[in-house]
Amino acid sequence: MARTALVTGGTRGIGEAISIALKEAGYDVAANYGGNDAAAQAFNERTGIPVYKFNVGDFEAVKAGIAKIEAEVGPIDVLVNNAGITRDGALSKMTPERWQEVIDTNLTSCFNCAHAVIDGMRARGFGRIVNMSSVNGQAGQFGQSNYAASKAGLFGFTKSLAQEGAAKGITVNAIAPGYVDTEMVRAVPEEVLAKIIKRIPVGRLGNTTDIARAVLFLADDAAGFITGATLSINGGMRME
Ligand code: CAA
Repeated sequence: MARTALVTGGTRGIGEAISIALKEAGYDVAANYGGNDAAAQAFNERTGIPVYKFNVGDFEAVKAGIAKIEAEVGPIDVLVNNAGITRDGALSKMTPERWQEVIDTNLTSCFNCAHAVIDGMRARGFGRIVNMSSVNGQAGQFGQSNYAASKAGLFGFTKSLAQEGAAKGITVNAIAPGYVDTEMVRAVPEEVLAKIIKRIPVGRLGNTTDIARAVLFLADDAAGFITGATLSINGGMRME
């Protein structure tokens, strides 16, 4: 029987590529999204993947959303915590709201979603959780104290949950993409982005499919010995 996967923020950008790659690999996929109805509807029409709108930063909304997905699509075997936002700006200009919004959407969301699926995974003795971090969570970035903190927080979350899941067949890993060609990255001012691309040894932005390939690899039944790891995919921008 096909395994079921949930991709948060799964209708646009990196998430869209992940949803499609999982579907093509035979998974039953559900794609969550937060706000852009038109994009979600177009994605659904293009791919046939069902879409579910809820705020991943809201514990109760996640609980209800995931219960609906499990009833309609199936018990979730693979959770890809991909949803994320930026609210860039130097700290002196950053409001508490912009700090909190990013922490809620990028970090608390992973707690909320994992919390909603973990008991089922434990009972079935199988689970794959992939948390989408960022090179900027590893290295920091001017103007991203909120975003970098949320993405760095994911490393501790990943390693702790990996230890909790290990004896139950649940792996938990992080992916740290570099600058990938998405709307989020294209929103960076042109001259700033040009300087960033100069710092990428392969000389280009990543493609969303570069990241989706890694999710497929980590989600596989055969990847049971990989847990608590971080896979950096950044064109050489930051080497361990
Ligand atoms: N390094 C050092 N100094 C910098 C700087 C930098 N990178 N960027 C700006 N400054 C300086 C400015 O020159 C300015 O100096 P003065 O006060 O002496 O004039 C000062 O810092 C303040 O600059 P701004 O008023 O422009 O600052 P701001 O609060 O408006 O923020 C910014 C600017 C929005 C952060 C802009 O620099 C920016 O967009 N940077 C890119 C951030 C980035 O990389 N975001 C990634 C988004 S994609 C993503 O996050 C996906 C992923 O995972 C990789």
